[in-house]
Amino acid sequence: MRIDILTLFPDMFAPLHQSMIGRAEKSGIVNIHEEDIRLHTKDKHFKCDDVPYGGGAGMVMLPQPIVDCVRSVDPEGKARRIFMSPRGRTLDPYIAKELAQEERLLFLCGHYEGVDQRALDICGFEELSIGDYVLTGGELAAMVAIDVLLRFVPGVLGCAGSTEEESFSHGLLEYPQYTRPAVFEGREVPEVLLSGHHANIARWRREQSEMLTAARRPDLKK
Ligand code: ADE
Repeated sequence: MRIDILTLFPDMFAPLHQSMIGRAEKSGIVNIHEEDIRLHTKDKHFKCDDVPYGGGAGMVMLPQPIVDCVRSVDPEGKARRIFMSPRGRTLDPYIAKELAQEERLLFLCGHYEGVDQRALDICGFEELSIGDYVLTGGELAAMVAIDVLLRFVPGVLGCAGSTEEESFSHGLLEYPQYTRPAVFEGREVPEVLLSGHHANIARWRREQSEMLTAARRPDLKK
């Protein structure tokens, strides 16, 4: 999979290249590239924003640098184009799985008060939100979306079953996990987990998931 990220702040993406995603990049499963929108401006002062027509607070990102940046990175229009915005569909595991099937993704990160609508229309961007709150820019949102979707790309997680067992995968929150030692500061690991009885362990985990979901996220229950 190839992911292009169009941003005015490419340095913000350093954390994305760490840990499991960094390993996936090294092994060639994913290729993530940040493109600095400012490199594509035709303005002699490298300006990328201006005041909004109609008045109002803040600045709006100019269409020209964005459209030229998109055309330079994806000249043949092969990538699914996503603009990170609180106006978009809210990211969930279904959307993440769907995006994980794509060969190419292109993320646009906005700043200031927004992006000239014509840039979004010309380039055919869909909008994606990570929740009902407003960030100072789309960069953190893009990192969240990319992290979430890459977990569904085969080979990114070490263990193939990991996304099956986790929170939300069956409309339930994940059960509690324990590792060694069996007793820590006087607290014991639930006995059933030491029993080696797989059916009982599975039942206990299911019950724990149901109890947690009912207590904390009753809205998840169908
Ligand atoms: N940009 C600013 N706020 C955002 C949000 N909640 N989701 C996606 N992009 C954003």
